[in-house]
Amino acid sequence: MIEVRNSDTLLEVRGLHTYFYTYEGVVKAVNSVSYRLNRGEITGLVGESGSGKSVTAQSIIRLVKAPGKVVEGEVWLDGQDLMSCSEAEMQTIRGRKISMIFQEPRAALNPLFTVGDQISRVIQLREGCSRSVADSHAVEMMRAVEIADPDRRANAYPHELSGGMCQRVMVAMALSANPLLLIADEPTTGLDVTVQAQVLDLIRLRVKSAGSACLFITHDLGVVAELCERVIVMYAGRVVEQGPVAEIFSSPRHPYTQGLIASTLRVDIDKPISTIPGTVPDAVNLPSGCTFHPRCPFAEDLCQQEEPQMVEAGKNHTTRCHIVSGRIEREMLEEAWTLETA
Ligand SMILES: Nc1ncnc2c1ncn2[C@@H]1O[C@H](COP(=O)(O)OP(=O)(O)O)[C@@H](O)[C@H]1O
Ligand code: SF4
Ligand SMILES: [Mg+2]
Repeated sequence: MIEVRNSDTLLEVRGLHTYFYTYEGVVKAVNSVSYRLNRGEITGLVGESGSGKSVTAQSIIRLVKAPGKVVEGEVWLDGQDLMSCSEAEMQTIRGRKISMIFQEPRAALNPLFTVGDQISRVIQLREGCSRSVADSHAVEMMRAVEIADPDRRANAYPHELSGGMCQRVMVAMALSANPLLLIADEPTTGLDVTVQAQVLDLIRLRVKSAGSACLFITHDLGVVAELCERVIVMYAGRVVEQGPVAEIFSSPRHPYTQGLIASTLRVDIDKPISTIPGTVPDAVNLPSGCTFHPRCPFAEDLCQQEEPQMVEAGKNHTTRCHIVSGRIEREMLEEAWTLETA
């Protein structure tokens, strides 16, 4: 089924709901999430641990594990409705159109093949080239992700390499596929700062030159500021704010986004200016109304009673808060996010 879309949009997620049916109750890990990813752009997906970032990514590629299930929503990739594809079609799409760099690289690599072989197979599939040509491309890709002595390391099995090295192999494999969509879930966790910068450069270069789109999941807002054009902020399974990076960093409208930015390390003063009080709510018993209300310094009665709807906060910038929508009249004072410095 082909549908004509906005030509810049590569991926569109509409009203996605992914729930886990556990003994404790239903976990609404992804709750009515909608967004678009544009060609040639890197979009950051941020939020504290447990906010639903990884499950969102797994839902797109239809790899949510039981007891989880996508219960509602549409995912369109380049005019193709992924939710109505057969499992066989999805396998081809995962190999050729979407690549994923997982948080846990060891789980994603095949223990039975050398890492060089695994990268080479991806290249053979894409290029239809001979094995020996693909093998030498694979070594070049390993060099590009700063794996020293790649000729020798290509013959290593995953268990013979460190976690950081496996991470780089995963990046090399994902980028070798030249995917339309690259999903990177905390791809630089565990890498040292220099290698991290090189991996990010490589991702940027690939996305820009191939005109693909990238969903970059991270808890590091510094990386988002440096790498991404757009950012999506998730809290307790919901998108609470999304828009252009420059605008969201200079004037965040949702209190949670403000809190996240205030709690990142400020280089000029060598510490964050604040921390967000409290913790992410229990996913089975989410607070009523605005799920952020128990932690929000601006919360009023309405926040406990009614869930805010998504509203425009600027050009291509939306958020979900009763103050921004004008239902509550009050100012969001920046001082609310300043640490007491005794
Ligand atoms: N297998 C599972 N069973 C039950 N709940 C799960 C499972 N996997 C994830 N969840 C729940 O889904 C929510 C979102 O998880 P996740 O997407 O991994 O968060 P993030 O990647 O933002 O840290 C969490 O509340 C988590 O407890
Ligand atoms: S709706 Fe209320 S509780 Fe939620 S973020 Fe806005 S002010 Fe805070
Ligand atoms: Mg995660």
